[in-house]
Amino acid sequence: MSDNVHYSDLGLVNSRDMFDKAVDGGYAIPAYNFNNLEQLQAIVTACAATSSPVIIQVSKGAREYANETMLRFMAMGAVKMAREMGSDIPVCLHLDHGDTFEVCKSCVDAGFSSVMIDGSHHSFDENVEVTRKVVEYAHKYDVTVEGELGVLAGIEDEVEAEASTYTKPEEVEEFVERTGVDSLAISIGTSHGAYKFKLGPGEEVPPLRFDILEEIEKRIPRFPIVLHGASSVVQSYVELINQYGGKMDGAVGVPEEQLRKAAKSAVCKINIDSDGRLAVTAKVREFLANNPAEFDPRKYLGAARKELIELIKHKNEAVLGSAGKA
Ligand code: G3H
Ligand code: 13P
Ligand code: ZN
Repeated sequence: MSDNVHYSDLGLVNSRDMFDKAVDGGYAIPAYNFNNLEQLQAIVTACAATSSPVIIQVSKGAREYANETMLRFMAMGAVKMAREMGSDIPVCLHLDHGDTFEVCKSCVDAGFSSVMIDGSHHSFDENVEVTRKVVEYAHKYDVTVEGELGVLAGIEDEVEAEASTYTKPEEVEEFVERTGVDSLAISIGTSHGAYKFKLGPGEEVPPLRFDILEEIEKRIPRFPIVLHGASSVVQSYVELINQYGGKMDGAVGVPEEQLRKAAKSAVCKINIDSDGRLAVTAKVREFLANNPAEFDPRKYLGAARKELIELIKHKNEAVLGSAGKA
């Protein structure tokens, strides 16, 4: 991309200061994925209303869907919108699951303030190599970098993993030291998407592997840890979706109490995408079923956006503890 821009010119901040405060304060910064206008409006509105710092993040799929230049201007608009609402919440624009050095570089050049290089599917040494290369480039522009060790089950953009591989605590010190990353995503039992656990009749969601998290914290005290796949798969949305013609039987996520516990630890970034998707889908289905003659997208997307605002406020206030921390 020829017209490079630095994130500070867009009013954005990197994640360093946010994470320092979150680790000390025992809460987590919300990282909400967005792909379109209504999702971003909802994120900004809810985070400004709850005075929460926020990471707005885009996947490779989102970049393809919305266009990288469009996303840059949307992020700039998001900051302006928050300021016009009288809020000075810090906003970080993050690349979610970058899979190559080139994608990460392109985002740094386009004004992102933080990037993830997900080398978790490579061997340890290859992961170190690509992550270090991204860090070397990104740090020249004071862009923060998230790496990943361990594999989450489910779909990570176009990479699908059948089973998860928990992060090996004995690898984290070497990884952090050799790469220079600013934060580390780990695998402790979460997974992406709306079907995180296969439960038999009467079975409950198994607890996350807090023992692994504790071991990691012992080895790299206060180092910012990131939890992906952290949607709770809100059951009222699943029920609405099924009620209005959807088919999402068996959709289940991480219970809120477990996320609250994680947020109080060194976990200082919690990624949420699926819950937002469910809220939008539930409300669009409900609206269209109840208003069959309506064909103005502002009506059904407006209903979805309203619900998304409430969901995000709830997450910030009752789950992550980020409300009032801006
Ligand atoms: O980690 C995956 C995120 O939910 C993004 O999903 O690649 O379908 O945009 P996506
Ligand atoms: P969920 O699918 O649980 O929302 O996870 C989102 C995520 O980890 C984005 O990187
Ligand atoms: Zn993820």
